[in-house]
Amino acid sequence: MPDSPVIQTFELSKQFREVRAVDRVSIAVERGQVFGFLGPNGSGKTTTIGMLMGIITPTAGSFALFGASDAKGHLAARARVGATLETPNFYPYMSGRDNLRVAATIKDVGSDRIDECLEIVGLAGRGRHRFRTYSLGMKQRLALAATMLNDPELVILDEPANGLDPQGMKEVRDIIRILADRGKTIFLSSHLLWEVERMCTHVAIVRKGQVMKVGTVAEIVSEQVRALVRVEDTGALEAALADYPDATGVQTTDEGTVVSLKSDDLAGLNRYLAARGIYVSHLARHQQTLEDAFIELTQGDYGSMTEIAS
Ligand SMILES: Nc1ncnc2c1ncn2[C@@H]1O[C@H](COP(=O)(O)OP(=O)(O)O)[C@@H](O)[C@H]1O
Ligand SMILES: [Mg+2]
Repeated sequence: MPDSPVIQTFELSKQFREVRAVDRVSIAVERGQVFGFLGPNGSGKTTTIGMLMGIITPTAGSFALFGASDAKGHLAARARVGATLETPNFYPYMSGRDNLRVAATIKDVGSDRIDECLEIVGLAGRGRHRFRTYSLGMKQRLALAATMLNDPELVILDEPANGLDPQGMKEVRDIIRILADRGKTIFLSSHLLWEVERMCTHVAIVRKGQVMKVGTVAEIVSEQVRALVRVEDTGALEAALADYPDATGVQTTDEGTVVSLKSDDLAGLNRYLAARGIYVSHLARHQQTLEDAFIELTQGDYGSMTEIAS
């Protein structure tokens, strides 16, 4: 019999007074996946994680952890989970190592894995230094080490890339890769697309509490043919494309004009434009990125788009 999914939600929902924070979310995270739960700020990511961890009570729907779907089963299953949500506050005057010892006591897991956890997050050489001397990236890595103390099968990370500089993000990606290589299942939330695109095997894109799309990165990124066109006069180009029967969509980007096409006949597009006196300086097939798909799926959430662009 195949394993039950590590996480499965069934129309999971949370209503806070007038706000529907999580709206009928149904997803399945299978063993060994690095699953990205991606959406703009306020789309219900933290609330969903809070429900999985038993901190927030769902108002409708249900979920299963390691196949267990009742309260008692959830409690037992959570012993197999490490989540950044439960990370204790660290003491600034104590060493990273001693902070992990405190965390192990709170979690009631014993301190025999502290050195291994420091090693995984690349802090083996700094374990004896005081927490307050750590950079933000090192503090985040210590928090990751704390989630690993119980040698969890499932690691849940809420916005692990938040606030980190490119170097810090690279370190987090490396740690996630190490955990994935050790067979851990990872569920992470993020509003930062390009940072997670490279480390996730599967993603769900959420907006206003609803799952817009779910699948592998390749599945999310549309198979549709697109052409990137650069011309001097984009106004004339857009007017011409409005009458081109093969064009199903036109989008202006920093790189040029992206045209969605019914067929991959780029030569035909070129001939059509030339016949209307529009000569392109660049015409090439354009591969949609996860970020393009994200922006398309979360259109109108301008607040979040500035965030994504920043
Ligand atoms: N305790 C709460 N009471 C009322 N509204 C809440 C509460 N927690 C979250 N919300 C609202 O629910 C929505 C989703 O929030 P959240 O899950 O934190 O989103 P995300 O983690 O994706 O940024 C937001 O509109 C937020 O303001
Ligand atoms: Mg959040």
